[in-house]
Amino acid sequence: MNDKIIAPSLLAADFARLGEQVAEAEEAGASWFHFDVMDGHYVPNLSIGIPVLESLRAVTESFLDVHLMIDNPQIFLEPFARAGADMITIHQEVAVHLHRDLHEIRRLGARVGVALNPSTPAETLSEVLPLVDLVLVMTVNPGFGGQAFIAAALPKVQRVREMALDMGIEGLHVQVDGGIGPETAPPAARAGADVLVAGSSVFRGPGSIRENYEAIRASLSVRV
Ligand code: DX5
Ligand code: ZN
Repeated sequence: MNDKIIAPSLLAADFARLGEQVAEAEEAGASWFHFDVMDGHYVPNLSIGIPVLESLRAVTESFLDVHLMIDNPQIFLEPFARAGADMITIHQEVAVHLHRDLHEIRRLGARVGVALNPSTPAETLSEVLPLVDLVLVMTVNPGFGGQAFIAAALPKVQRVREMALDMGIEGLHVQVDGGIGPETAPPAARAGADVLVAGSSVFRGPGSIRENYEAIRASLSVRV
């Protein structure tokens, strides 16, 4: 199952050493990073934003996937695209005009993602699935790193895959985010996720960043 992408979530990194830690993860094989943006309104936490993305863009060519956990995401699509986001993912739950916003992300030249909270059904995407490159199925409630994985979200990963199949959509990425590590990556991959976001387990795991990353990679080749 080496077609799976492990995307370290920078939320768990040491922000004073962000560039170094990205480079360390890249040496271990990472080429896709997840960048969590929180506004203190949509989720009860603050994180990083446009200046940090710009700085990171200057030091890496890896794929940068920006997960906007913010109200009124339409205001920030262009600034994040300009700052170097390769993909922008917005939440289905906050977008008043989801269809418009997804088209706008495409127009800005970024890949298009849409996220679903644990309580949001896959079927809410039935009208927009052909517009997106990635569906993010949250496996925790958004707002914090280091939370426990919600296994009940995995049937939704399967449903998204089935919907895509029924609609003849090929190449859709299904991403899981929250509580992913060597124990939870295999069931998520079996359910149909191909992009596995991992924050704490990569940057705050028991070993070095390389060892932690490799432990997730190994769990996928052994158990899936
Ligand atoms: C949670 C974020 C996640 C977070 C995952 O709101 O969207 O990307 O970084 O962290 P872990 O892997 O520690 O659960
Ligand atoms: Zn995230």
